[in-house]
Amino acid sequence: MRHDNTALRQCFDVEIYLPALAAPASWTALFGNRNPVELEIGTGRGRFLIDAAGKYPDVNFLGVEVSLKWMRVAKGRIEEAGLTNIRLARTEAAHFFDRYVPSGSLRAVHCYFPDPWPKRRHAKRRLFRWEMGNRFARCLAPGGRILVATDQDDYFNQILGVLDEETAFRRLFTGTVSISTLPRTHFEEKYLAEGRSIHRAEFHRA
Ligand SMILES: C[S@@+](CC[C@H](N)C(=O)[O-])C[C@H]1O[C@@H](n2cnc3c(N)ncnc32)[C@H](O)[C@@H]1O
Repeated sequence: MRHDNTALRQCFDVEIYLPALAAPASWTALFGNRNPVELEIGTGRGRFLIDAAGKYPDVNFLGVEVSLKWMRVAKGRIEEAGLTNIRLARTEAAHFFDRYVPSGSLRAVHCYFPDPWPKRRHAKRRLFRWEMGNRFARCLAPGGRILVATDQDDYFNQILGVLDEETAFRRLFTGTVSISTLPRTHFEEKYLAEGRSIHRAEFHRA
């Protein structure tokens, strides 16, 4: 039988229309249920979100992507897949956290292969600075997790420094082996195929 997603598309929009979103937002209103919410920063083509949302239908996934081009690609793929438990916000992550994410409302934050900005003069553009640790600490529920991956050695050390600085967090894992239960991202597949070593970390919020 042909899978017809038309009805789904009529019920909700994958893309959040930010001017109409309450600040702070209500995830219950946004998703129409009380399931736990996990947020991915830098969704790119949407591969992680689509695989994760398909695998865990009782979890709501929220993607925050600053690029209009990638948000549109991800949105098209999500609609095509007919998944009802993903929403996308096309905006900058720090702004989204500060304006829309209620305190203690997230079960996990995923951030895979954040832009590395390798030149010293661009380092201030990196996503992981101390304020980001503050944001995660405010927005994660007790027991919530932060999962990150990068192929950049020095950025990985910076990320660990930022998250170690937050007294609310405890390191659960750092290493280069895959967390086998997690779907892979586009960049992860690409870098693994190139034979690059990938650093991963998982932190827990007390
Ligand atoms: C290197 S790509 C990784 C994409 C995906 N996570 C993956 O692993 O395949 C980084 C992504 O983060 C997005 N991005 C960069 N800075 C951002 C920010 N401040 N807020 C939201 N998205 C951001 C970029 O537009 C890009 O899509």
